[in-house]
Amino acid sequence: MKRRVAVYRTAHFNAAHRLNVPQWTPEENQKFFGACNNTNYHGHNYEIQVRVEGEVDELTGYLIDMKVLKGYMEEEVIEAFDHKNLNLDVPEFAELNPTAENIVWVIWKKLRQRLDENFSLSVRLYETPRNFVEFNG
Ligand code: NI
Repeated sequence: MKRRVAVYRTAHFNAAHRLNVPQWTPEENQKFFGACNNTNYHGHNYEIQVRVEGEVDELTGYLIDMKVLKGYMEEEVIEAFDHKNLNLDVPEFAELNPTAENIVWVIWKKLRQRLDENFSLSVRLYETPRNFVEFNG
């Protein structure tokens, strides 16, 4: 019987970043971003939650092999971001402020291109246990 199911997988990475708008003066940046603008960066323990929704395959009973989804998350997110300085080490943030809003967008785009187009994808990123963002495309 055809049915849609959502599967979830979580992952974790540590990374450093600094929030800064280059068009602004140091004083404007400090005032707007506060401690997040500190010159020498600061770190977060990021948690991501990936949600893939689609139709369950009637033969296998799978939506997606979780080993495959785990592999995409390791390759696209953990290997790219874990123990990195997002501003300096990750090309996507060379000119894009690494806010949670922008990080979740970058992660979504990287995973989207790995997944079957029939799946819908939602990514949630926790910057702290209490602050999190979600992007659905
Ligand atoms: Ni921060």
